[in-house]
Amino acid sequence: MTVEDKPLWVLGYGSLIFKPPPHAKFRIPGIIYNYARRFWQSSSDHRGCVETGLGRVVTLIPYEDIIKHKDIKEDVKYFNNLADDFKENDLKLWGCAYYIPSEHAQKVRDYLDIREQDGYTIHEIPFELHIDEKEHQFDNEFQKSIDSLPRDPKSGKHVLISTVYIGTLDNASFIGPEKLEKTAEIISHAKGASGPNFEYLEKLHHTLRDLDDEEEDKYLSQLLDKVVEIRNNK
Ligand code: BEZ
Repeated sequence: MTVEDKPLWVLGYGSLIFKPPPHAKFRIPGIIYNYARRFWQSSSDHRGCVETGLGRVVTLIPYEDIIKHKDIKEDVKYFNNLADDFKENDLKLWGCAYYIPSEHAQKVRDYLDIREQDGYTIHEIPFELHIDEKEHQFDNEFQKSIDSLPRDPKSGKHVLISTVYIGTLDNASFIGPEKLEKTAEIISHAKGASGPNFEYLEKLHHTLRDLDDEEEDKYLSQLLDKVVEIRNNK
C-alpha cells in the first residue's frame, strides 16, 4: 500500500468540528491530551481581513511551550483549573477525528492544505477515540483500521496518531498570549471570507457542547459570554 492508497485520518479541534472536510465518512469524537486550545492565531482570510482587521481562530499550544512561558502558563492554570505543578496529561480537550476513505485521501489533503494556509503546519499527534458503536454502521475497511490501533492501558480506548493542523508559536500569525477581553473585542467585529468571526466561536462552542455536555470548556464559555456582552452593548 502506498501513502496514496491509505485512508486518511484528520483531527479537528477548530473549524473542522463544525465544518467537516469533504468525503468524511465517519466522525469520531475524542480527547487530545497535552495541549491547550486558544484563539491565538490571527486570521487574515477566513475570519478577518487585512483591510478591516485580522480575526482570531484557534490553535493548539503544546505542554512544553506552556510551561516555558510564564504568562501562557498562568492563563492555562486559570482557564483549565490546574495547580502550579500540572503535568502533560492534565491538559485535555475535545475534538473530532474524521475518517476519509483511501480513494479520497489525496484530494482531501490537497483541499485542506489550501483551506488552512494562514500559518498552520501539518503535525501528527495522538487522539483518544471515544467511539459510540451504537451510532455507527462501520464498514470493513474502517473496522480494520480501528482494530489495528493500540489501546491506552489506562482508559482502554483506542489511540490514533492523526494528521492535524497547528499554528505553532513561531509562525507569523501566532499572536498569543492575548488577554481574553482583547480577543473578545476583536472577535466581536472581525469578518472574513468565511463569515463573521463571532459565528466561528459560536459554532465551535455549541458543537463542542453537544459532543461533551459534562465538561465545560471554561475558556470558550467565558470568551463567548464576553463577545455576546460586547455585541449587545454596541
Ligand atoms: C481544525 O481543527 O478545525 C483546524 C484547526 C486549524 C487549522 C485547520 C483546521
